[in-house]
Amino acid sequence: MLSWDDEVQPASPAAPAPRPVSAPSAAPVSGMDLQARLQTQEVALNPALVSKPVAATAHAATATGDVARRVNAADKRIINGTTDVNQLVPFKYKWAWDKYLAGCANHWMPQEINMQRDIELWKDPNGLTEDERRLVKRNLGFFVTADSLAANNIVLGTYRHITAPECRQYLLRQAFEEAIHTHAYQYIVESLGLDEAEIFNAYNEVESIRDKDQFLIPFIDVLTNPEFKTGTTEADQTLLKSVIVFACLMEGLFFYVGFTQILALGRQNKMMGAAEQYQYILRDESMHCNFGIDLINTIKMENPHLWTPAFRDEIKSLFLRAVELEYRYAEDTMPRGVLGLNAPMFKGYLRFIANRRAQQIGLETLFPQEENPFPWMSEMIDLKKERNFFETRVIEYQTGGALNWE
Ligand SMILES: [Fe+2]
Ligand SMILES: [Fe+2]
Repeated sequence: MLSWDDEVQPASPAAPAPRPVSAPSAAPVSGMDLQARLQTQEVALNPALVSKPVAATAHAATATGDVARRVNAADKRIINGTTDVNQLVPFKYKWAWDKYLAGCANHWMPQEINMQRDIELWKDPNGLTEDERRLVKRNLGFFVTADSLAANNIVLGTYRHITAPECRQYLLRQAFEEAIHTHAYQYIVESLGLDEAEIFNAYNEVESIRDKDQFLIPFIDVLTNPEFKTGTTEADQTLLKSVIVFACLMEGLFFYVGFTQILALGRQNKMMGAAEQYQYILRDESMHCNFGIDLINTIKMENPHLWTPAFRDEIKSLFLRAVELEYRYAEDTMPRGVLGLNAPMFKGYLRFIANRRAQQIGLETLFPQEENPFPWMSEMIDLKKERNFFETRVIEYQTGGALNWE
């Protein structure tokens, strides 16, 4: 498990850090010599260069240029592409670029949200019940580290294996949004004067949170392993599995008990500032999830041989395990009914969401006939930028971006 004490390993190709690969079906590349390691790292920078002889790459680009090497959009691939990843255009994956633009248009910062009423409510001995306080603390206990895991997964893992520059551009925006989310959770912890050590260590110390993170971490570790590279069916399936786990199960499922809880507080005029922060985060996360689903479906389309019956069965079993873990988290955060919510209601909700995620990536429905017990959550996800649900104020970034050079 990653912790704050972990040292960042230098990226020197001459001395790659030995790291265990802990994913269930991870295939460590054994016997890779230095040349191959160098090539793995260069692929992340520009696969077009390493696919050519060194002499050609060093000297071929003259004033007249090597026109034959110009990027043709049709040649781009999401994984194992050989076109120059430094050339964003010509576009092929317009959906990724459009999501990048939408993410930028949705920009927000945690300090813009007034936390004063939350602070007064938290300090008032009669402001919240003990069950409500437990819910808030366990909720933050998951989220304060979850978005760091998500950011590490993007920056140190997924990014270097994706060869479509439009998708890389979105991942860079997404990584910054994960930093904003970690900032937002820290800002709530600080505003309420909570015990930082308790909240930030919850992922080590609270079983229901630790179990969720331990489920996820092997899927990060396999992509951050410097020796992992795509290009074989097994490795490509490993990458696709990690992308599915993150988009569909972490961002698409593990966040939903927590989001529903804080938004339910807000609907009862409690913790309105925190609820507003979570609303903005939910909007970002639903876009992350949708981007991930587009990424998964495009990888599938370009590499249909990866989507074997055995692979689909493995994905289904991961979905079932994730639903079970998230349900245990619901029970732990809500040992009794609170805010009109209780853990059994979430059993139906999680199955409903799991069905939706499965359908979105082309798997059959996992649980028959589940309906959404929280239809108001759908309205929250569809939040429009101009007006937030609680109607506290208007945030408008799109018209404020012009620079004045006077
Ligand atoms: Fe996030
Ligand atoms: Fe995210």
